[in-house]
Amino acid sequence: AKVTLSVIKADIGGFVGHSAVHPEVKEKARACLEKHPLLIDYYVAHVGDDLVLIMTHEHGRNKGEIHKLAWDTFVACTEVAKKLKLYGAGQDLLADAFSGNVKGLGPGVAEMEVEERESEPVVVLMADKTEPGAWNLPLYKIFADPFNTIGLIIDPKMHCGFAFEVRDLIEDKKIIFNAPEDLYDMLVFIGAPGRYAIKRVFHRGTGEIAAVSSTQRLNLMAGRYVGKDDPVCIVRCQNGYPSVGEVLEPFAFPHLVSGWMRGSHSGPLMPVSMDDARPTRFDGPPRVVALGFQLADGKLIGPNDFFSDPAFDNARRLALEIADYLRRLGPFEPHRLHLDEMEYTTMPQVMEKLRDRFIDLRLAKKARAAAGGEA
Ligand code: F6R
Ligand code: MG
Ligand code: MG
Repeated sequence: AKVTLSVIKADIGGFVGHSAVHPEVKEKARACLEKHPLLIDYYVAHVGDDLVLIMTHEHGRNKGEIHKLAWDTFVACTEVAKKLKLYGAGQDLLADAFSGNVKGLGPGVAEMEVEERESEPVVVLMADKTEPGAWNLPLYKIFADPFNTIGLIIDPKMHCGFAFEVRDLIEDKKIIFNAPEDLYDMLVFIGAPGRYAIKRVFHRGTGEIAAVSSTQRLNLMAGRYVGKDDPVCIVRCQNGYPSVGEVLEPFAFPHLVSGWMRGSHSGPLMPVSMDDARPTRFDGPPRVVALGFQLADGKLIGPNDFFSDPAFDNARRLALEIADYLRRLGPFEPHRLHLDEMEYTTMPQVMEKLRDRFIDLRLAKKARAAAGGEA
């Protein structure tokens, strides 16, 4: 039978501020999922202030009952968050009632249905204080860059390359790019991760799913700012897919992502263990956690908390140096995001306040010309 891996996450209250998930909240989530008849197995994780439900079952993707279970779990956890008066309790539960599918409601979702192989290693990537497009650069490196993934060159099962489904998050469109032949075209788009995000990657030989990310744009959905849509991603590994080491390798380079303080800054994505995923400095820097599991008839054998490996110490050190450097820019771009990416900007109010003090130079010029003066 096919197994579906559903990773559904939400920020339902931070401890303290927007830093972490309180242990009682995770406890509650475990109580909701324990021995649940719909599930084969589950693991409750967190990254920063995001609660991440990792679930396996046989019901396929976008299944109402599974999404409802996740929703009900978040609602139950919100009760705990409210009792403890955690910060922003229930912030990602945008709708008051569940309406069949958590997509478009607030929580982030990544799901894949697989025919479990003889051995099925998967990596669940989870990030805090950033956006879904943060996966673009690592997914590109993992599935299209032979300088990262030598398997693309020397594994006969990977040499055919991978296909990338890219979403336009603003206009809600999608397009498939085939690597390697469409790479230059694809990079025009995925190099703009605030708008274009890689949703899925497929093996071109088998057509099988290789990776899937969450691409909800929470801030746009709510119509007002309610927090960054911190993303998750699932990647299959080994034997025709990138090896675990090839999946983790891009994170040895802490690339710049949008998010961090007030969702309005550029900063390095720092790979950390789950224990170290409690962003503090200027509410950051943004974090990524990688949990490895072996699926065994749908059972989640794991996790292996990969970034606890000291091999990522240099990436962390570099991330901190980049953080030091960027912080010295204070409110200046490019540390602060470009105006149209800023999520809670005072720009409209300040503009309104100063409207009368702005002098339109084009009008002044025209007036001078009309008066016969120099243009
Ligand atoms: C960014 C984030 C935090 C908050 C900041 C202000 O994604 O969660 O940096 O934006 O702590 O939070 P509020 O507006 O809730 O006081
Ligand atoms: Mg939060
Ligand atoms: Mg968060």
